[in-house]
Amino acid sequence: MVSKSKFQAIRGTRDLLPPDTALWIRVEQTAHEVFTTYGFGEIRPPIFEPTELFARAVGGETDIVSKEMYTFEDKPSGLPDPAHVPPEDYTAAAEHAIQTRQIPDTPASRSALAVLRHQLEYFSARSEYPEQAERAYLTWSHAARSIQLGEPLTLRPEATASVCRAYIEHNMQQLPQPVKLYYMGPMFRRERPQKGRYRQFYQIGAEILGGPDAPAIDAELIEMLMNFFDKCGLQGTELDINSIGHSADNCRRGYVAKLREELLKVKDQLGADSQRRIETNPLRVLDSKLEHEQPIIEKLPRIADHLCDDCKTHYAAVKHDLDLRGVAYHENWRLVRGLDYYMRTTFEITARGLGSQNAVCGGGRYDGLVELLGGPPTKGIGFAIGEDRLILSLQEQEKAKASRMGEISASITGKATVTGTLTNLSIVDVYIAWMGQNAYATAIRAAKTLRNAGYRAELPPVEQKFGKALERASKLGSRFALILGDDEVTSGQWTLKTLADGLQQKLTEPALLEYLQKL
Ligand code: HAM
Repeated sequence: MVSKSKFQAIRGTRDLLPPDTALWIRVEQTAHEVFTTYGFGEIRPPIFEPTELFARAVGGETDIVSKEMYTFEDKPSGLPDPAHVPPEDYTAAAEHAIQTRQIPDTPASRSALAVLRHQLEYFSARSEYPEQAERAYLTWSHAARSIQLGEPLTLRPEATASVCRAYIEHNMQQLPQPVKLYYMGPMFRRERPQKGRYRQFYQIGAEILGGPDAPAIDAELIEMLMNFFDKCGLQGTELDINSIGHSADNCRRGYVAKLREELLKVKDQLGADSQRRIETNPLRVLDSKLEHEQPIIEKLPRIADHLCDDCKTHYAAVKHDLDLRGVAYHENWRLVRGLDYYMRTTFEITARGLGSQNAVCGGGRYDGLVELLGGPPTKGIGFAIGEDRLILSLQEQEKAKASRMGEISASITGKATVTGTLTNLSIVDVYIAWMGQNAYATAIRAAKTLRNAGYRAELPPVEQKFGKALERASKLGSRFALILGDDEVTSGQWTLKTLADGLQQKLTEPALLEYLQKL
């Protein structure tokens, strides 16, 4: 029995393998194509940012910031552990590191450094006053531990904050507005892993920053999203929309106060999470999936009845514009989203085959966020698609189709397959079976010609008997075998075998390409 490696992917992370990755590539390619036609350009922000960026943007009370972030201190490598060197040496090293900015020069660290120096004075008299010296050492080591060695950094749990940071950092308000950006890549949240929920997951997102808050912007962004899902071939999506009002205006504040008041009346009937949220963020109670809370939530006041005139008009115009574009939606008054930066329009898309984690995309308007991060007043709206969930849903859809047709076979048509197993990692169009050194030179040329024309050609690195070569070609799921022996090389007539029906034909090099292209 083969022993298992002791190294395994960390819980909540996974390897994406071929042939599944072909579907990931197709989905990402579709995003590049569709988003470009709507005037978006790609941004690739870093994977880690200062913790404070996410804390401020997403909100300290949210699940993401309060319990799901992967945070670490960006410590310099040279500074020793205070327990392992004499206090005099550590104090000097810390002072030098702060002066040379190897570690952050914060007021807290500077006052800790003053304590270190002060305690050292007692310490220098340790042979005369051992008790005092011991107390001084305790105070010293406590202060040494409180020096902030590095900036707290966080693996990005989402990318909207990063895009806003980049907008400010690169003075993008000076570009023609609005600025339309999209991104794709891994995000990190320490959630409980389950189907469709991972600790490293992938998002494809888009943000529109600057310009007016015209409802047509909201509607066009949503239209683009639905168009993208359509082009990916995803069926059965459902779009929910809502308006959660304006945070700076009275409408949201007034509603939240009213909601809190009503929730306090039924507090005893709610679960622990909802009870806590009455204080921290009453809107999130509306997100609850607990069965016994559903009838209670249904009776709570609804935001639509509390929107101010501006927000009401904006929401009505977004819906009207979606109608004009033929985008179907459901209004869902409980759609509040789990991040603090939203205002007015919020939306979420669910897809089939995902079980409880069925939200395949979430987004909304966030007009105050750039300002909150230190930039100029700027409108903003965006979304992020959960790419893992999109792929899962496409795969489930394909499985259902295949079982309806009574076949689960990998496609060899050149399109990505969605039902892969590890037994067939690569998919080949033409397997080049060659024998003899003369034939090898021709085989190299044939492989190059085929690959340049866009075909997947497999050139075996060592000579194989033709029988063996054909066996391997069909194992790889190749559609054709190009047979090259001495005869073919001398005559210039190559043999092409179609593996499905055994048909063999003789073709010159240009005729081969012409034949394949006609297919
Ligand atoms: P979000 O709702 O937190 O929003 O995430 C968006 C999507 O990412 C979700 O609908 C889901 O498909 C996927 N997702 C989230 N967490 C996980 C996970 N642990 N495993 C797998 N998929 C996951 C945001 O992130 C906002 N930044 C969206 C946005 C952009 N709003 C405005 N602009």
